Amino acid sequence: MSGPTLIRNGRVITATDDYIADVLMQDGVIHAIGRDMAVGEDVKVIDARGLYVLPGGVDTHVHMENVVGPSITCDTFASGTKAAAFGGTTTVVDFALQTAQDSVLGAIARAQRSAERQVSIDYSLHCIVTRVDKQVLADVRHAMRHEGVTSFKMFMAYPGVMMADDAAIFQMLRQVGADGGMVALHAENGTVIDLLIKEALEAGHTSPRYHALTRPALMEGEATHRGIRLAELAEAPIYFVHVSSNEALKHIVTARDEGIPVFAETCPHYLLFDDSVYDNDSFETAKYVMTPPLRTRDDQKHLWRALRYDDLQVIATDHCPFCMKENHLGYQLQKQRGKDDFSQIPNGAPGIETRLVSLFDIGVMQGQLSLNRFVQLTSTTPAKLFGLFPKKGTIAVGSDADVVIFDPNATQTIHAHELHSHCDYTLLEGRTLRGKVEKVFLRGELIVDGPTWLGREGMGRFVPRGEVRAF
Ligand code: URP
Ligand code: ZN
Ligand code: ZN
Repeated sequence: MSGPTLIRNGRVITATDDYIADVLMQDGVIHAIGRDMAVGEDVKVIDARGLYVLPGGVDTHVHMENVVGPSITCDTFASGTKAAAFGGTTTVVDFALQTAQDSVLGAIARAQRSAERQVSIDYSLHCIVTRVDKQVLADVRHAMRHEGVTSFKMFMAYPGVMMADDAAIFQMLRQVGADGGMVALHAENGTVIDLLIKEALEAGHTSPRYHALTRPALMEGEATHRGIRLAELAEAPIYFVHVSSNEALKHIVTARDEGIPVFAETCPHYLLFDDSVYDNDSFETAKYVMTPPLRTRDDQKHLWRALRYDDLQVIATDHCPFCMKENHLGYQLQKQRGKDDFSQIPNGAPGIETRLVSLFDIGVMQGQLSLNRFVQLTSTTPAKLFGLFPKKGTIAVGSDADVVIFDPNATQTIHAHELHSHCDYTLLEGRTLRGKVEKVFLRGELIVDGPTWLGREGMGRFVPRGEVRAF
């Protein structure tokens, strides 16, 4: 553990506050907050005048070393968490996948074994549950009570691979909700989408743009509505991952107005890009093959409105990187896998390192989000909804000293080769953004200092999570 550090005269911004103060970090936590604090010579002092002091980002939707069919996401826990740190994120929640072969508890243990040697920031896991029976429900209860895993992702898409049926989702909602946890749902009508994919391929439509054309917003809306009704019947909270369209959003807004505890995230790519990228047959478009696909500018308008008025509560990355070039750093069966058949392109895009800075630029600087709301969406509310708060997600006495010093006046131009992900592209290539992460502290230890990496593989810890704090 590093010695005490005082961040002097920074502008401290949390979800609710905005003030100039000194922040003393000691023994891994925020020890004191005050003005003109006198400290001994053993305390390292950092002058943060003119800079923001933010709680470390909490990204509750990332995929590292995730197996998707025959492909694997091209970030290890080591490269992905280092990239996250450079982007100002100090806690991630990744996934443990229940497979046909192993149990919920086996999946969690397997992911932990791989992560613990590699992570350089703190992490937790959602468990993806693909089938439900008595034993699975018992394991889920055990994971919540004894393993600190209190959220479970289920898919209404990808039939035959990860899709769970409505009864399975309902059973999970009922039990997990009653136990104080959260079911996170990937809402798309998988069987209809698979039919549309089959028909497109039979008609000879093989280029990446057909990924988007076969996953209509209406089928995201239908599944979202169905998920809400299942949660309502189960009397459980529900969380929708990667909401991309107004078709989905309108059901979320209505349900929230009815008092149903529905929560949802969107991702930076749905705010940064629209479906005009699919207006061609080039394979370059495979960069934008993520699920759900990018939607219209009108959908973007609705996403911003929902972010401002709290119908969307979280912005997570869904960082799910696959390389465009085959064999980059030895990764095989990446995007090129689908060069003759769009349905074989592994779904997902990178974004873990650019989340805060891109949202600061297009959200805060362009007047879409207040600074407090920016912090709330990227750190505080994800921490609350997934049982990490107040250890994570804020700057307060006693909270972990996960702190970002952010320069709002700096600019940077994004290039994939300067980022720390293994991925060989970024959707933001060449884009100049306002704002820059200057320093990052994990539990009081400086791990990013400008361009310099001071973190270490294995220094991150698994964070056992508690109950959902939805209200
Ligand atoms: O395209 C995406 N989002 N890939 C990751 C898997 C998922 O559905 O989150
Ligand atoms: Zn998903
Ligand atoms: Zn995902």
